[in-house]
Amino acid sequence: MNILENISLKDYNTFGIDTKAQSFVEITSLLQLQKALELTAYPAYFILGGGSNLLLTKNIDALVLYIALKGISIVEENDNEVVIKAMAGENWHELVLWTLENGYGGLENLSLIPGNVGTAPIQNIGAYGVELKDLFVSCEAMHLNSRELVEFEHGDCEFGYRDSVFKNAKKGQYVITSVKLRLTKKDHTLNTAYGAIEQELQRQEIIYPTIRDISNAVISIRQEKLPDPKKIGNSGSFFKNPVIGQKAFEKLQKKFPDIPHYRIDTDYVKVPAGWLIEQCGFKGKRVGDAAVHEKQALVLVNHGAATGAEILELAQDIQKVVKKNFKIELTPEVNIIK
Ligand code: EPU
Repeated sequence: MNILENISLKDYNTFGIDTKAQSFVEITSLLQLQKALELTAYPAYFILGGGSNLLLTKNIDALVLYIALKGISIVEENDNEVVIKAMAGENWHELVLWTLENGYGGLENLSLIPGNVGTAPIQNIGAYGVELKDLFVSCEAMHLNSRELVEFEHGDCEFGYRDSVFKNAKKGQYVITSVKLRLTKKDHTLNTAYGAIEQELQRQEIIYPTIRDISNAVISIRQEKLPDPKKIGNSGSFFKNPVIGQKAFEKLQKKFPDIPHYRIDTDYVKVPAGWLIEQCGFKGKRVGDAAVHEKQALVLVNHGAATGAEILELAQDIQKVVKKNFKIELTPEVNIIK
């Protein structure tokens, strides 16, 4: 096993934060993962996937297990559907492209989401009206202490909005090693209702979209609004969209009749954090190299040399002002390592 010491994690997190790992090993097989988890010389383990939902504010005094397990296979198939198994280290968008090349429907709305397959269930990644949970069958995960492989079925994962059992009751206990997804081979269910997708398809004069058309529309929308982490460090949405009570929403709507919102039920409404942050004057605000993206206020960016602490300070400033102006608490979506 090739264990590296004192290495920079700059290229391993999409924020591009330059902190160090005490020790670091790239994991390319399940056996290697088991062996690494048997090592006793390290104070702790730190599981690293695509690093796309991570804000590092300090050095990692642990053995970083960089999950690079690869492979995509078909595990079940009939005339209408296919169940695929993707290993945790596969890049998410490359998996989406692979499904499109094979004519499998389901993941097209989730095109161009940064990160790897293994972290997708932790976050229950979602975009443009689709969440991972809509396609998810099960995932396999290795227990950090027993080193046993366990299968988590859909019901075991307790999926919620950007949430799962892996962020709650089972936090820090497992490494997800592979994910199974059920996709369609024909009669695909297309999700085009999301406003931005409808508009993009209209703009391109597409009346009967294919799964490839939807993927292309999503890619255009994302490229327009969201910064490419290869060019500007970022972790996508930094906060979750808050859910507020109907009474509080009515008050807000009186003051801001055009406030965008999604109704959850008769009692609760979700309001876009990006809108709240923009109203507070933060859109495009820059403090050193830490900044709020100028096209999407929900995305914090690193223009080059920002530290995790500087990004965190900006995030806390935003939380304070939004709380003061709107009496709404913003919860980070990104995993902050303090
Ligand atoms: N808005 C503003 N100002 C801004 C940003 C947004 O007024 O600076 C308004 C928009 O005009 C729109 C509403 O807020 O009316 C919602 O904006 P958008 O469609 O861009 O989506 P979002 O709610 O900001 C969520 C997800 C994104 C996902 C998009 C599309 C969360 C935390 N974020 O963003 O996910 O791509 O919807 O489905 O739920 C991510 O999780 O990293 C991510 C990018």
